[in-house]
Amino acid sequence: MKDLAGTVEFNRQLAPRYYHIRLRLSEQVDVLPGQFAMLRPAALAEPILRRALAIHRAEDASVEFIYLVLGQGLEALSRIREGERVDVLCPLGNTYPTESVIDEGRRAVIVAGGVGSPALFMLASELVGRGADVRVYFGGRTKHDLPALDEFEALGCPVTVTTDDGSAGERGFVTVPLERDLALAGREASVVYACGPWPMMARVSEIAAGHAAKCYVSLEARMACGFGICVACVVEVCEGSFAPPFKYQKVCTEGPVFPAEAIVW
Ligand SMILES: Cc1cc2nc3c(=O)[nH]c(=O)nc-3n(C[C@H](O)[C@H](O)[C@H](O)COP(=O)(O)OP(=O)(O)OC[C@H]3O[C@@H](n4cnc5c(N)ncnc54)[C@H](O)[C@@H]3O)c2cc1C
Ligand code: FES
Repeated sequence: MKDLAGTVEFNRQLAPRYYHIRLRLSEQVDVLPGQFAMLRPAALAEPILRRALAIHRAEDASVEFIYLVLGQGLEALSRIREGERVDVLCPLGNTYPTESVIDEGRRAVIVAGGVGSPALFMLASELVGRGADVRVYFGGRTKHDLPALDEFEALGCPVTVTTDDGSAGERGFVTVPLERDLALAGREASVVYACGPWPMMARVSEIAAGHAAKCYVSLEARMACGFGICVACVVEVCEGSFAPPFKYQKVCTEGPVFPAEAIVW
C-alpha cells in the first residue's frame, strides 16, 4: 500500500449520479484485479474520511474508477476537475483466485450488479487476454445503471444484459440468465465471480452452490481506514457450518474477495 498523489486526467459523468475518473499517480503501482483504493479530494477539508473505490483499470501510472454518488464524499469527488489533486491510498485488498479457470480450464462466469462492475472489469479483461472462456452477466435497475457496459462488450466475450424495468436487455434480475447458463454448462463446469448488491450476491452464491460451481464475491462495506486499523468493515464468516458462533473478518485486508460459502448471508 502506498500513499500517493493523483492528478485528475478526466472526471466525466456517464449517467445520472455515475462518474468515471482517471488519475495519474505520483508513482506507478502494481494492481491486481479486485483491488481497491481509498480516495479523497486533496484540497477540501470535508469529507475527512476517504471513500473506497474498486480499481476499474490500471495502466502505467494511471488508475481509473467508476463511481455512483450516494453522499457527501463522492459528491465532492464528482466536482473536481482536470489537473486537480486527489489523495490516493492504493493498492488495497486481495485478488480473485483464478487457478480453476487458468489451470483447470473451467469457464469464468462474471456477474456484475450495477456499480459492482468496476470490481470485475480488470478480472474479465485479464481472463479474456489469457484465452479463458469468459462470459459476463450484467444487471442494473435501469439502462442508466450499467456503468462501463460498453467496455465489457469491447472485450469480445458474450455479455448478457438485464434490467429490472426492461429498459435494456432482458427484463428481470441478472440471476435468471445466470441460473440458465449454469444449468446448461453442467455441474462443476464454472467458476462464478460476483460483485453487486448484497441480495444479488446472496442469490448468486445460492445458485452457484446448486450447480457445484466455485463462487467468489467481492464485498463492499463501510470503511474508515481501508488498511486494517479501525475494524469498521468486518463481516461475519463461517467455516463450513452456518451455526453460530461466527467469526469476523475485515473486508479491507482479508477481502474484499471472499469465497461465497464463507459468508454468513
Ligand atoms: C472495496 C470497495 C470497493 C468499492 N467500489 C466501488 C466502486 O467501484 N464504485 C462505487 O460507486 N462505489 C464503490 N464502493 C462503495 C463506495 O465506497 C460507497 O458507496 C461510498 O463510500 C459512498 O460514499 P458517498 O460519499 O457517496 O456516500 P456517504 O456520504 O458515505 O454515504 C451516503 C449514504 O450511502 C450509504 N452508503 C455508503 N457506503 C455504502 C456502501 N458501501 N454500501 C451501501 N450503502 C452505502 C450510507 O449509509 C449513506 O446512507 C466500494 C466499497 C468498497 C468497500
Ligand atoms: S476499514 Fe478500517 S479495518 Fe477495514
